[in-house]
Amino acid sequence: MVAAHEDAVDSLLGQHQQIANLFAQIDKSTGEHRQALFAELTALIAVHENIEQQLIHPLAEQKAADADAVRQRIAEEQDAEAGFSRVYDLDPAGTQFIEELAALRDAVIAHALAEEEQEFLQLREALDDDRLAQLVAITAAAPALAATLPAAPPAEVFAQAKAAVRRALNAEGDGAA
Ligand SMILES: [Fe+2]
Ligand SMILES: [Fe+2]
Repeated sequence: MVAAHEDAVDSLLGQHQQIANLFAQIDKSTGEHRQALFAELTALIAVHENIEQQLIHPLAEQKAADADAVRQRIAEEQDAEAGFSRVYDLDPAGTQFIEELAALRDAVIAHALAEEEQEFLQLREALDDDRLAQLVAITAAAPALAATLPAAPPAEVFAQAKAAVRRALNAEGDGAA
């Protein structure tokens, strides 16, 4: 159950925090644990970015945000997907893994901050409480959807996340895209 006070923006902000925490945990971990955390992060990011692409960015563009900023965020999400594929192919015990992971983390965190400043706050202003409460049914489902995805190469995880988010939106009757 979603806490009564949590709206769609709260759950997306919580995921940004969770993503930052997972990057830090991967950095500190070793061996199979590092690979498992990287798979967990890939799945969460894949679902989170697909919820944004299929629901949040289109709404932001319609209701609140600058269209150029939204396009820029979508381009960054595509770059992040490519970044996950690059890191996945590296030896998790190597220094190159840590360097590429740090670059990916910096890009993902800058992307998240830009969303928070240029989309989320505006969406919360533009949408009424009922709509925000309705959207939370999808946004708050991200961790549960991510848990259904396989540990696989990132391109496959992102493709499966896209399909899973589409099914969830159809089930909610909320195909905003
Ligand atoms: Fe995003
Ligand atoms: Fe985001």
